[in-house]
Amino acid sequence: MYRLIRPILFALDAELMHRLAMSMLAWIMRFSLIRALFARYFRVRCPVLEQQLWGIDFENPVGLAAGFDKDARYFNALHALGFGFIEVGTITAHPQHGNPRPRLFRLPEDRALLNRMGFNNQGSRAVAQRLQNARIEPILGINLGKSKIVELSDAAADYEVSFRRLFAFGRYFVVNISSPNTPGLRDLQQRAPLFDLVTRLQQLNQELARSHSTSPRPLLLKISPDLSEDDLDDVLDVVHRCKIAGIIATNTTVAREPLRSADHAVWGSGGISGLPLQDSARAMIATIYLKTRGRVPIIGVGGIFHAEDALRMIEAGASLVQIWTGFVYEGPAVVRRINRDLIRLCDERGYAHISEAIGKRAQPLQLEA
Ligand code: FNR
Repeated sequence: MYRLIRPILFALDAELMHRLAMSMLAWIMRFSLIRALFARYFRVRCPVLEQQLWGIDFENPVGLAAGFDKDARYFNALHALGFGFIEVGTITAHPQHGNPRPRLFRLPEDRALLNRMGFNNQGSRAVAQRLQNARIEPILGINLGKSKIVELSDAAADYEVSFRRLFAFGRYFVVNISSPNTPGLRDLQQRAPLFDLVTRLQQLNQELARSHSTSPRPLLLKISPDLSEDDLDDVLDVVHRCKIAGIIATNTTVAREPLRSADHAVWGSGGISGLPLQDSARAMIATIYLKTRGRVPIIGVGGIFHAEDALRMIEAGASLVQIWTGFVYEGPAVVRRINRDLIRLCDERGYAHISEAIGKRAQPLQLEA
């Protein structure tokens, strides 16, 4: 069905289409009865897929990646489409418009997207107000980024502002230091600034936990697929020293190999997501899994369209996976399909439970320097 209407949807500007589709979804899902009917159809419940991580019970391992619901407007509607968890953001302390449009392009020949959105979002104050008034149905991850107007040397204070405002609403938090569309952001992946940033956020985490009479939130790092192996070692050193709860691998890539679409050159700078990212994201996950001896949970993201892709990511070392581009190309039934097929694949491969697959085929693949 989605395949039939996709050419019509793809005829419109990609960002405009995204907004339209989300507004329609939210409109339909206003009615709790309709939401319940959708959930009944799309949510796949099976013990094989369930998992507990960081003390959180995940119904299935397929989440929505950051950047889809930047302002935390649609998470309940999206939850009814079967996602095991939803990550909202990236949210910055200051509201910002992002880069000039057009800034999101489809590369259908490559089953990819190119984006240079630049963290367009309403800012953490507005998002906190929205969440304060909402009944949050899914497991909500909150992805935090640096405001563009803030100097890199003041990044930690900027992340702290958002973390403080949003602490009460997220089940886990992601420190995004890997978007290619905020100048200088990825420099925060270097050992010294990263150590400083994460140390401060972990201290604040303890403080906020005490003042909210709750436990600290799992703090995860989202990293770039373009890190060299030395850079990755630096990140993992900080992960270890600062007791980071998990790693999200990966964000979009600035690499243009092996793109087939000629248009990408015309469309200019930005991060590539989707199929061209799949191998490098999986390679990085396998490398992290092996280097950390499986002790740091990984959320795998990059080029997942089908259950086979998801399972290969899990077999490389991911405990959970996320999708973004796959949702655009495969449509709203993609999560249901992946989850149902995952159950079948687990059965075929003799995994009694999805967690048995984690890291089963982690192989040290060569990362690009
Ligand atoms: C993203 N992604 C992203 N990631 C992030 O941490 N914060 C963000 O704000 C965004 N924004 C964003 C916008 C758009 C238009 C896209 C396509 C992607 C990256 C995303 O979460 C994911 O890491 C990559 O897209 C790789 O996954 P897929 O798309 O290949 O499944």
